[in-house]
Formats: sequence, structure tokens, C-alpha cells
Amino acid sequence: MTVTPLIPVRTMQFDAPGNDEFHPLYVAGNAQLSYQHSAIGLYVAHLEPFFVKSLRRVMDRISDPTLREAADRFCRQEAQHYQRHVDFNKVILAHGYPGLAERAERLKQEFDGFLASESDKFRIGYIEGFESYTTQLGLYLLRSGLYDHPRTHAAFGELFKWHMLEEIEHRHVAFEVYRHFHDDNAHRIRMCWFAQRHMFSFMRDCERLMSAVDIGRHGDRCRIRWKHRLVLQVVTSGMRAKAMLPWYTPHALRIPASIEALSTRFTERAVQVR
Ligand SMILES: [Fe+2]
Ligand SMILES: [Fe+2]
Repeated sequence: MTVTPLIPVRTMQFDAPGNDEFHPLYVAGNAQLSYQHSAIGLYVAHLEPFFVKSLRRVMDRISDPTLREAADRFCRQEAQHYQRHVDFNKVILAHGYPGLAERAERLKQEFDGFLASESDKFRIGYIEGFESYTTQLGLYLLRSGLYDHPRTHAAFGELFKWHMLEEIEHRHVAFEVYRHFHDDNAHRIRMCWFAQRHMFSFMRDCERLMSAVDIGRHGDRCRIRWKHRLVLQVVTSGMRAKAMLPWYTPHALRIPASIEALSTRFTERAVQVR
């Protein structure tokens, strides 16, 4: 088992923009990227509580103390993520998108259903299926410089930069917890397919819903361009395929030296670190 035992649990403070100040194209002024980030924020608000509840149920059965400590810190990082996204999600929802809150509520009910009716193996597989994608996404987005783009809203940029950084910091945990309990790579691959498809279906619904409303009030630049959609699809398909390779392991991912510097910066910026 190889995990970093002392993943820092940072309590962060970000000031969400006021409702009057908010513009939906807050990531690089780009419709596809901005709606994708709004959808991620709405998705994790229900996903991450599901992660924490699912892992807490099996925590006592993790016999390796180092892995148990890492899993505990993973839960505490994820709990911070969804709590920090809530204020930003309120601003997005207050912008007025008929059907968006209902779609998010349906997502919550789906996660509640997974908690009530599915097995621990399904849930831990789901977490790993999601994490194996998010780690790659985090590396890609941080490398892109998108969050420092002059047309990216600074507070949204910092929120997502911090979240993506911590996804990279805890990249080994779900993979190792899954392996601790299950020697079943076929199931891991099936759950990658399931979890990622579940997420993308939610994100697509949100993007369509928000873009359709915003075109009417902010103009045609809120329309998602087919070439931007195509680029995103190519990039995300590559990450999804990589996560589903039988030999996939987060231990093989190359982590640039800049990630350590970013970790230090957010640790210094944190209100509290445990
Ligand atoms: Fe997270
Ligand atoms: Fe995560």
C-alpha cells in the first residue's frame, strides 16, 4: 500500500461574488468551460457527501492504519470541498435557471438511492471510478492556466484551483481503498464507466439548461460552440479511456513540481490546517 498518509486538511475561505456581480461566463469568458465548471460545482455538492458517507461505512474495516488515516483525511478534504462550493452554487442558482435546482435534486435522490440500495463494493467502486477521472482532470486544468486567465473570475478561479489541487493530493486513496477490499479489476473498470457516465449526463443536462436561458439575456456568446464541445469531448474521452485501462494506477501519473508549490501556497492561505 502506498499512499501519502498526511494529506493536509485545509479550511479555506473564498468570497463568492454577489448576485449582481455574477456573470455566467466566469471561466475565461468561455461558455463551454464556464457551464462545465458550474455543473461540476452543482455535482460535487451531492457527490462529495455521498463519498464521505460511503467511506465512513467501511472505515472500521480498513485494517491498515496508514490507509485508514489517509481515508479519513480524504473524507475531510472532500467535506471541505462541497462546503466551499455551496456559496458559489447559491449564486449560480440565484441567476435564475428554470429546472436547474430540480435537476440537482434528482441527482441528490440518485445518490441517496445508492446509499440505501447498493453494496459497499458498488459505492467504493463508484468513488474510485470518479477519482481516477478527476485526478487526470485536475492535472489537465491546473496545467492549462485556465484559472489565471484574465477573463476568469478570481474567486471562482481560486476555488477550483484549490479543489483540483486537493484532488491531486488525495489521488491514491480511493484506488488503494478499493484494492484493499476487492481484487476485481473488471468491476473497477465497470464502475469507471458507470460513475463517469452518470456525471457526464448530469453535466450535459446542466450545460444545456443554463446556456439556453443565458443566450436570451446575455447574448449569443453563451451558446456552446460545437468546436469547443468537440475539443472537450476528445480531451475527456482520453482521460476516461486511460482510467479504464486494466493497468491504470494513480501511482504512474506524472505530477509536476509546480503542484508542491501550489500545495504550499494553499496551506499558507488556509484559515486552518489539520
Ligand atoms: Fe473533491
Ligand atoms: Fe476527490
